[in-house]
Amino acid sequence: MSNEVEKDKLSGTDTTGHEWDGIKELNTPLPRWWLYTFYACILFAIGYCVLYPSIPLPWGGHTEGLLKFTNRKAIEEDLKANAVAARPQYASIAARDLDAIQADAKLRDFAVAGGRAAFAQNCAPCHGNSGQGAKGYPNLLDDVWLWGGSLDQIHQTIRFGVRNANPESHQGVVMPAWGEAAKNPPQVLAAAQISAVADYVLSLNHKDVDMGSAKAGQAVFAENCAACHGENAEGNQDMGAPPLITGVWLYGGDKASLVETITHGRAGQMPAWSERLDEPTVKMLALYVHQLGGGK
Ligand code: HEC
Ligand code: HEC
Repeated sequence: MSNEVEKDKLSGTDTTGHEWDGIKELNTPLPRWWLYTFYACILFAIGYCVLYPSIPLPWGGHTEGLLKFTNRKAIEEDLKANAVAARPQYASIAARDLDAIQADAKLRDFAVAGGRAAFAQNCAPCHGNSGQGAKGYPNLLDDVWLWGGSLDQIHQTIRFGVRNANPESHQGVVMPAWGEAAKNPPQVLAAAQISAVADYVLSLNHKDVDMGSAKAGQAVFAENCAACHGENAEGNQDMGAPPLITGVWLYGGDKASLVETITHGRAGQMPAWSERLDEPTVKMLALYVHQLGGGK
């Protein structure tokens, strides 16, 4: 066997030296364009690995690359740039009181938009995406307010919350547990009395009930409930005792829910947001909630 590469006579191409029954294998070179593209890809990959995070390390993590680029960092920079752009508005919101912000249409729009975003992040889990509320979490769209619906009252509620450890939070009173001797020893009601007073509350909301039972319930109400909920069940905002005549319910207005509330008591809590959010954000939230529909 000679060392010289044999050329195929017909095509002039080198052969590999392999031969089967007189058929020889040609050593056709790769097309140039393909080869250079291939080299370019290798160069690109090496360049990429040097510049960008890419190669996993056996002890965890990965190489960072000379540029130290990450998408997270890019987003953080974007957010920072946005925050800087919004700084004048934040400063105006921090400096002005709520009425002044509301009087300035442009600033108010900015605040409401900011409040909407902060609401989605912080409040929606309890109050619902659009503030519609859920059992135990008040609807913020209607004009029935536990703690007041003026801009300042809403601001106060959001800043300090309800029945929490913050000394400035609304403490009011709690709804006693009338059916549990252990929780409310001196003045427990019998099951029949609870049923009767629930019927009375239903009758105040124009529901069909046994009128005899409702009449008996009226006496129970006057004696035990009126002190907090008011003689005509109109509610008392200082105590946080809701009106029982609006048809709007925090814990449900059917007979079973009423009996449950009266039997076991209630004490809704809301966090103090001034402990978690900066003051301009809390102001923006107040303006947002106020314009949801029920603001006074
Ligand atoms: C010590 C004051 C107090 C007394 C007395 C009291 N309540 Fe309440 N009640 C409250 C408070 C405060 C709430 C609101 C609790 C909350 O926000 O979690 C409430 C809530 C309720 C609710 C729930 C309302 C809703 O929107 O779901 C009902 C129903 C109710 N009370 C009925 C009664 C009845 C009937 C009596 C008398 C047997 C009574 N309450 C006596 C303070 C009181
Ligand atoms: C952990 C659940 C929870 C979260 C989160 C929460 N709230 Fe509340 N919020 C409540 C409860 C419960 C009440 C009712 C307290 C009571 O029974 O009096 C309430 C009451 C309120 C009230 C008073 C409503 C009225 O009728 O007077 C406002 C206003 C309010 N929340 C706004 C907000 C805003 C704004 C946020 C977000 C920054 C927020 N809440 C986040 C649970 C929550």
